Amino acid sequence: MTFNTGQSCSISGVLANWKVLLGLLIIIITTSIRSYIRLSHVPGPLFQSISSLGFLKTHLDGSPHSEILKWTQRPLIKVGPNSVITSDVKTVQRISGVKSPYSKGGWYRPFRFIKERDHSFSMVHEPSHTAFRSKIAAGFRGSAEMEQAAFGFLDEGYDFYGFLKWNKEFFSVAATSAVLPTLARAAQLWPFRGALPKATDPAGLGKFIRHSEEVVGARYKEGPDGRRDLVGMFMKMGVTKDGAVNQTVLYLTSNPRAYKILLSELDKAKADGLLSSPVQSSEARQLPYLQAVVREGLRIYPGGTPLAFKEVPIGGDMVAGYRLPAGTQVGMDVWGALRNTQFWGEDADLFRPERWLNLAEARFSSMVECLDLQFGYGRYQCLGRPLVFMKMNKTLPELLSRYEFAIVDPVHPADIKNAGFYLMNGFNVVVTVRA
Ligand code: HEM
Repeated sequence: MTFNTGQSCSISGVLANWKVLLGLLIIIITTSIRSYIRLSHVPGPLFQSISSLGFLKTHLDGSPHSEILKWTQRPLIKVGPNSVITSDVKTVQRISGVKSPYSKGGWYRPFRFIKERDHSFSMVHEPSHTAFRSKIAAGFRGSAEMEQAAFGFLDEGYDFYGFLKWNKEFFSVAATSAVLPTLARAAQLWPFRGALPKATDPAGLGKFIRHSEEVVGARYKEGPDGRRDLVGMFMKMGVTKDGAVNQTVLYLTSNPRAYKILLSELDKAKADGLLSSPVQSSEARQLPYLQAVVREGLRIYPGGTPLAFKEVPIGGDMVAGYRLPAGTQVGMDVWGALRNTQFWGEDADLFRPERWLNLAEARFSSMVECLDLQFGYGRYQCLGRPLVFMKMNKTLPELLSRYEFAIVDPVHPADIKNAGFYLMNGFNVVVTVRA
């Protein structure tokens, strides 16, 4: 008797479980169909229409760039049920323009790396962002002191505070979780937020924060002293990434012809007394082949490829010829723009600095505009952009005219992963002092 009752209970239990499972399945199927229908008219792989998992996986592998380049050559592609990316420069300019009704999307959230404290990049509240940006912008304007600040890590010769190591690890995690806004939100909640850097950490950004707080605190105690460095400017008004230089050296060492032309330009400029030591960026800007190398280096491997999703405003919008409903996340497809064969020509995948030389003004401007897509545009444009060019203009001539570089392992020269920025490891070179 007891046995029979037990058996009938377990059968009803099984039935109840089946009902739950069936209910869940119906919810998943209806949500997937609704997700699919929402952006079914936008081109992109079918799986991306119903889930962001495929795109998330490319980020976990550090290879969203190679995946996207397979689908690209289109002005708009779908990368998730509610997300698209565009390589159309004019569209990005319109979306990021000063008067645009678009706003920053959930993608930015995981970049808030200090608990409850936003920095300009992670700040999604538009009026606060505009006010904060205008305060810090002055600190980013070029000056001799800023040129010096850019070389702090090089002067020391090692990664003090373990900041560069932290930087690499953080960007991998942040750029990956940014693909799934729910994941991004969870990262800011207990218990995960405990992992965010704090001033008491022995290394990484935490230690860097402590040092910055000490320096700024001491400077406030001293009172304004008119020093024209970054701290001084931020006090008055309110990091650098090395990938671009490394990748350009990699491409130069693999292209002996371009490497030779650049060296003869640098040697001649030195012999003619046109370059001081260290080289000033104003001097470097007068060397046409060096400028072509800097731009081609940033084109073939952009310094950064943040998707920087913005949200379509109420009422929806026409983007690159497609109607997008309100709330759709529109990101930048920097890879697609910089390797587009229709724009750059059939040799878009080749490192060829000559493509930047002897151009009509209109063509040159549109190439520069396309190259600049990697820095964003308008009210969000990267404040470190001048610093990036300054650094390339100073570092490349210094390194290349003093030393000769040869790749240790030409079969596998380096590990390059993408985490919004390219992270390069194991780029081993034989360095010889030039005669
Ligand atoms: C090649 C290297 C770099 C690339 C490709 C790059 C690209 C970008 C992009 C795409 C954005 C966001 C645009 C948007 O939200 O739509 C951004 C924002 C920003 N970048 Fe960079 N960046 C680079 C290096 C730097 C450096 C070296 C610094 C600092 C010294 C810097 C400081 C900033 C700041 C402060 C913002 C936030 C601007 C704002 O919120 O308005 N960046 N960057």
